[in-house]
Amino acid sequence: MNSNNLKSIASEHLWMNSKSWLQSKKEDGPRIIIDAKGIYVTDSEGNTFIDCNAGYSSVNLGYGRPEIAQVVKDQLNAISYFPQASTTEPLIKLVEKLASITPGDLNRIYPVTGGSEANETAIKIARGYHVRRGERGRYKIISREGSYHGATGGVMWLGSPNKVAEFGVPYPGMVYTSQPNPLSKKNKNKSSYDYAVDCANEVERMILYHSSKTIAAVIAEPIVSQMPDEVVSPPDIIYWEMLRDICDRYGVLLIVDEVVCGFGRTGKWFGIDHFGIKPDIMTVAKGVVSCYVPLGAVIVSEDIADAYVGGDNLFRQALTFGGHPAAAAAALKNIEIIEKENLVNNAAEVGLYFLNKLNDLKLKHNIIGDIGGIGLMLGLSLINSDSVNESLNDDFSDRLKTKLIREGLLLRTDGKTIHFGPPICINKNQIDEIISKLDKVLFEL
Ligand SMILES: Cc1ncc(COP(=O)(O)O)c(C=O)c1O
Repeated sequence: MNSNNLKSIASEHLWMNSKSWLQSKKEDGPRIIIDAKGIYVTDSEGNTFIDCNAGYSSVNLGYGRPEIAQVVKDQLNAISYFPQASTTEPLIKLVEKLASITPGDLNRIYPVTGGSEANETAIKIARGYHVRRGERGRYKIISREGSYHGATGGVMWLGSPNKVAEFGVPYPGMVYTSQPNPLSKKNKNKSSYDYAVDCANEVERMILYHSSKTIAAVIAEPIVSQMPDEVVSPPDIIYWEMLRDICDRYGVLLIVDEVVCGFGRTGKWFGIDHFGIKPDIMTVAKGVVSCYVPLGAVIVSEDIADAYVGGDNLFRQALTFGGHPAAAAAALKNIEIIEKENLVNNAAEVGLYFLNKLNDLKLKHNIIGDIGGIGLMLGLSLINSDSVNESLNDDFSDRLKTKLIREGLLLRTDGKTIHFGPPICINKNQIDEIISKLDKVLFEL
């Protein structure tokens, strides 16, 4: 079928992420990707782009690795699925691998099919854990304002309840605290250390305000991966040290969402590795399998898992697609390639190079404000050079987006900030290519 036919069918029938069909129709149909290799994707019109956001900050390995396609094919030919209450070899090998690379005694792994499911499951496990230990009153979950932890029934209410208000009634037990982003607009010129201490103290204040006997868990990304209208930098290490201590003192579980930060994106295997503390529960998706097929996982400490031991004590959840053997085989191969090609170090080294290049660009363009991030999770804010406080208008945003596309850069921007989360296999020459295209766009603007 030719591209125009496909686009017109998509405009009529497809309800896709991140784009309305009305907008698609205005643009004569959505962009259809027909080829993808490494950091590059090509659409049905023959245009090639750099995917500076790696899908949804998720194709860590880059596109088109035949080794992954091969193991998926081999696995489907060998064993395509499994009878109820049984399992398969690739999944057993995968959970062994995950237990070996995650911190401390995070040794019990529950497979799911994506990040939202992982976080929903983590919250259920945390609440059930307290009930099984006789603390029925602990159901509230603390999250940080502006965070995103998924799109489904419960987790959509974490972090950004205003965005989902139309789907109310809000989920019970949601408690919000400040985001420890040193570049946050809420941080009025405090040092990164002082702001981190304030934000951690706020978590303790909220636990006391609600009574610790009502709080089940805190959920947070180690370094928040997306904030509305803000560029993000890692919090001072004191934030995580204090958070761990506060959770321990009040019997609150600490859930770390590694859906974006995990598997090398920040220049370490996991975002939390920057802070040297051990969470009680970790959730992963996206980078665990570089989005070749759907997979996520909840990785739980032995103490929590023990609450679910025994015939009468089973965790009452069954996800039909959880732990699919083809997904497990793909994830194992994904992790093997990340290790073999040293891509975690690459993210650290090339990420630093990228950050330096963005700082150089700032010297040339006074429209660039804050620059922040770590590894290959970076961002910059665009400020109106005439008046720092005046927000840039829609016309500017449209022109920015059009020019970026024309230059062949696909990236996440709301017109006020630009985010970069490319595949972690990206090299320095390719960073130069992005920088020179961005330079041209900003010069024209
Ligand atoms: C930090 C974080 N957690 C969870 C999710 C949800 O993952 P999924 O889209 O796989 O459900 C996302 C998705 O973007 C995310 O960024």
